[in-house]
Amino acid sequence: MKSKIILVTGASDGIGKETARTLAAQGHTILLHGRNREKTRAAYEEIKKESGNQNIEMFTADFLSLAEVKRFAEDIRSKYERLDVLINNAGAQFSDVRETTSEGHEKTMTINLFAPFLLTQLLLDLLAKSDSARVLTVSSASHSMGGKPALDDIELKRSYSMAKAYAWSKLYVIWMMRHFVKEAKRRGFHHISFNTVHPGSAATSLGRESTKQLKFRIIYFLWKPMMNSLAAGARSSVQGAVSPGLEGVTGKYFGPKGEEKPAEKYYSAENEQTVWDHCVQVTRPFMV
Ligand SMILES: NC(=O)c1ccc[n+]([C@@H]2O[C@H](COP(=O)([O-])OP(=O)(O)OC[C@H]3O[C@@H](n4cnc5c(N)ncnc54)[C@H](OP(=O)(O)O)[C@@H]3O)[C@@H](O)[C@H]2O)c1
Repeated sequence: MKSKIILVTGASDGIGKETARTLAAQGHTILLHGRNREKTRAAYEEIKKESGNQNIEMFTADFLSLAEVKRFAEDIRSKYERLDVLINNAGAQFSDVRETTSEGHEKTMTINLFAPFLLTQLLLDLLAKSDSARVLTVSSASHSMGGKPALDDIELKRSYSMAKAYAWSKLYVIWMMRHFVKEAKRRGFHHISFNTVHPGSAATSLGRESTKQLKFRIIYFLWKPMMNSLAAGARSSVQGAVSPGLEGVTGKYFGPKGEEKPAEKYYSAENEQTVWDHCVQVTRPFMV
């Protein structure tokens, strides 16, 4: 397999770390991103030692700040002449109280939707330098569990719950990735594919904030025995990144066992455009 340059966000823990570990062992160049310097360094050292792969570089950026996402993208662009795969894996759940970032945006939407949107936009021309580039964004099977999305209130100012914010953010990234297919075509980027993946469910630190509440701690405790291994959780990202069978495949949704159909109940081209326009508006200050 030809060695690729692969950026994995949120690779200091959980599914992202496992994805980076597997791809490093296959000999690819890994750009390993995390938010906390010590924790990211520990993951970097561990994967480097275990894989024997010297082509691993670590980066840190807090995606609750879109200014940081921009700085991070600039750092990547200054160091690499092309990027073959971008895996937008970093994601989070928060508590049942709506919180905003220092830039004024709802936190769940910021890390799960606006950050991957902005990062993908800022790295498009670097991806275009690859003969065949792939962008993957990690969604979740829970994208279908939020009920009717409030598209006139994407950042849940009117009515917030942790479950709705998380589910809708994971629904919107599926629509965002579909829109990237059209956008790339419009801008003449013909060799970049855009797919969404989900990991099934795997026991990770994802619920660190949400499980501070008793009701979510109980749900997690009951659900944990049904969860997959980290390797199974990383499978859709690993396959999506390097599987030769997925060369040129775009606009699809993959789980650990292959292609799946995402929930379409609330999908329309108009709703996709509404989400896209909101992302454009939120990230505009960071696009220049
Ligand atoms: N686990 C599941 O069952 C499951 C199911 C469906 C979808 N997913 C999705 O899979 C992806 C990976 O989640 P996971 O389960 O592996 O969770 P995890 O163990 O919590 O890992 C999340 C990764 O994202 C990073 N991250 C968190 N907040 C960040 C921020 N503000 N800025 C930059 N990076 C940040 C984390 O950094 P730290 O190491 O510093 O925390 C970590 O590297 C997420 O998109 C999640 O929504 C997971």
